[in-house]
Amino acid sequence: MKSLTTNALPPVFSGPPRTGLEARLAARPDGLPTADHIQVVTTTVPDPAPGQVLVRNLFMSLDPGMLLLMSGGPRLPMPRYEVGQVLYGDAVGEVVASADPSLAEGDLVVHRLGWREYATAGAEAFRRVDADAHPSPSMHLGFGLVAYVGLVEVARLRPGDTVFVSSAAGATGGLAGQIARLMGAARVIGSAGSPEKVAHLTGTLGFDAAFDYHDGPVLDRLRAAAPDGVDVYFDNVGGEQLRAAIEVMNIHGRIAVCGALNRQRAGRPDEGPGDLLAVAAKRLTLRGFTLFDHLDRAPEFGERFRGWLREGSIVYDETVVEGLASAPQALLDLVGGRYTGKTVVRLTPAPAGTSVA
Ligand SMILES: NC(=O)c1ccc[n+]([C@@H]2O[C@H](COP(=O)([O-])OP(=O)(O)OC[C@H]3O[C@@H](n4cnc5c(N)ncnc54)[C@H](OP(=O)(O)O)[C@@H]3O)[C@@H](O)[C@H]2O)c1
Repeated sequence: MKSLTTNALPPVFSGPPRTGLEARLAARPDGLPTADHIQVVTTTVPDPAPGQVLVRNLFMSLDPGMLLLMSGGPRLPMPRYEVGQVLYGDAVGEVVASADPSLAEGDLVVHRLGWREYATAGAEAFRRVDADAHPSPSMHLGFGLVAYVGLVEVARLRPGDTVFVSSAAGATGGLAGQIARLMGAARVIGSAGSPEKVAHLTGTLGFDAAFDYHDGPVLDRLRAAAPDGVDVYFDNVGGEQLRAAIEVMNIHGRIAVCGALNRQRAGRPDEGPGDLLAVAAKRLTLRGFTLFDHLDRAPEFGERFRGWLREGSIVYDETVVEGLASAPQALLDLVGGRYTGKTVVRLTPAPAGTSVA
């Protein structure tokens, strides 16, 4: 990575106009979007004006939450997508031209201007990251911090706890289960949507038990997997799995509500947690959270995470989808259960011989 230069601004941006793909919201969906609600177009990329930088995006994140940003539905702690406007989302890219002294050509940066191959914006929109921190720049888009704060700060994980994680083969759930184990959980249980994912949980990610939530009533499967009850539930889905967890939780159990995939997949509101008598009787805590309230934990988590990776005690799972044109359908496929681990879109051509999701 090039070092910070403060003494010289790159003066000339010449040559033919640069073009790149970007994705816009074509129409606001009523319920679940289709791929046609997103339009991928070629656009001219502006050169950076003073104070701006031009970034070539390498990877962008696909998040189930993006479906909610397209709809006019519930209020989220971030702006919804607007019809005719470029979508946004987490991305990692390389500075290719800078007209601001704080960033230099070659710097690796993370930012929120995904869904486009090139991003030109004020330098403050970009945060430089260590290019040597991870084997692939795409790992800067991982959801490990979400898993970590959900367990440590929201659910107050304690050594010896039994932990249940839903959507456990996904970006957040796969790391939540592994981090729970690394932080002293006695038993870690995961649910996922296929026999292959269940085998992956116990065979590769080290879960003690796992089940397919399609296999009969979740309550029965969870009771069988957690005969001594559950102390912490890391909830990515809501719906039947949340209701089952409430039944199986131990006294003073803690539920960290991270996501609502049941609702995100259906495109309509969930039935919710049901009868709350058990919540009162067992003095349960059910607490929603969003990562944005816990960003101060990033340095602490980053250090721990890199240590776990170095010593080989955590598996980082990732699915790479090739090209922005594939992203609209891939977003639907993500929530449909096609992928495992963190799903990212490569926005630069794949090296020869690389497999495509
Ligand atoms: N609170 C925060 O700050 C925060 C931050 C990031 C993400 N989130 C939320 O956390 C949740 C997980 O995000 P992620 O990126 O890690 O997603 P993910 O788990 O990688 O999401 C995709 C998976 O969702 C599962 N799924 C879809 N519908 C389901 C359902 N009804 N029941 C169970 N599983 C279902 C599918 O797997 P199966 O094959 O297993 O069905 C699919 O593989 C999402 O709701 C997301 O919006 C919250």
